[in-house]
Amino acid sequence: MPIANVSSRGGRLLDGGNTLKLGLFGANCSSGRNVTKVPERWSGTWADNLKLARMADAAGIDFMLPIGRWKGYGGETDYQGATLETITWACGLLAATKRLTVFGTVHAPLFHPVIAAKKMVTADHIGAGRFGLNIVVGWNEDEFEMFGVEQREHATRYDYAQEWIDAIKRMWTEQNTFDFDGRFIKLKSVRAKPKPYGGTQPVIMNAGASPTGRAFAVKNCGAFFMQASRNSVAETAQRVAAVKAEAAAQDRDVSVFTVGVIVCRPSTREAEDYHHHCVVEEADWSAVDQLLALRNITPQTVSPDEFRLRRHEFAHGNSGLPIIGDPDRVAGMLIELSRAGLTGIAVSLVNFADELPYLAAEVLPRLERAGLRLPA
Ligand SMILES: Cc1cc2nc3c(=O)[nH]c(=O)nc-3n(C[C@H](O)[C@H](O)[C@H](O)COP(=O)(O)O)c2cc1C
Repeated sequence: MPIANVSSRGGRLLDGGNTLKLGLFGANCSSGRNVTKVPERWSGTWADNLKLARMADAAGIDFMLPIGRWKGYGGETDYQGATLETITWACGLLAATKRLTVFGTVHAPLFHPVIAAKKMVTADHIGAGRFGLNIVVGWNEDEFEMFGVEQREHATRYDYAQEWIDAIKRMWTEQNTFDFDGRFIKLKSVRAKPKPYGGTQPVIMNAGASPTGRAFAVKNCGAFFMQASRNSVAETAQRVAAVKAEAAAQDRDVSVFTVGVIVCRPSTREAEDYHHHCVVEEADWSAVDQLLALRNITPQTVSPDEFRLRRHEFAHGNSGLPIIGDPDRVAGMLIELSRAGLTGIAVSLVNFADELPYLAAEVLPRLERAGLRLPA
């Protein structure tokens, strides 16, 4: 049976609003994304998340994107060792906010699609259409061992995810009882009510880095998250254009986002000093090394120069684009990313709640003056 015609864009996040959308990435995890030992690092507690979401909502931040992580990376801080489950986290935050889109990051191979579809619809009703899905297929082997689930070979992960998302979309749209007879997923007499809020569809994103992952995103998602170039904005623009061209070749449109880490202070010198303090002097290097080892990046597998470079990249925000400086510099870099064709960026801060007010007071007005954002 054909899949019901579901808008692949969906959700409020992509329906107009700010030209450059800003999100917060990784607040559901202890440490957030900076791999640092500084005592003020992000707690990831519910109380701090709630405070942050209310603040972000008032400031006009567009979305919050959590990390679906089941097990910490160890090190002195047990980096990302305490994480709030993302759909339940989203439900709580959606109930407490009015405008933010809140994503759940859902591991397709670990969540039964019937349960996942209903959990997500519930979140979408709580948020009156503001829930978003980040579909992930699994990155870290050790997490799957913990579930007693064997990770599939890379391409097959996305074959499975294709069936999973097809099943989810049918449950979100199909009025009649249906059977789903896939290669992996077999469902009988499925009835799923209610449908997502108000006849809309939650925005769906994916951040696959491989050609297979990217093809999956282009085919199924309204938003694709990619790594911005660390070398030049021109290179980022080329990457965005390549994704858009891949989508256009299938008669589709996808919004392209990236991730970054921001340190913004009254002077660029102060920002650089603090950044250096957090992710060089006080980096949790043992956690960084475990993160790298999970990706098979070790002194045995890469050259000493490459290893040094990757350690530094991963210490600040697990390899997001560093955006470090005074408000003019930070706003300037964000404006360049927008001109490169990006629809938005999900950023991490060392302590989200302590640092967001300054960002909101100094950087957002600069983006408004540049015509990229509307006043909150
Ligand atoms: C912004 C962003 C968020 C991601 N969130 C998660 C996550 O929370 N959990 C997870 O297991 N993988 C996450 N990933 C990993 C991707 O979904 C993807 O598996 C990874 O980029 C490797 O790409 P590939 O699957 O195409 O090989 C994220 C990646 C990015 C860039």
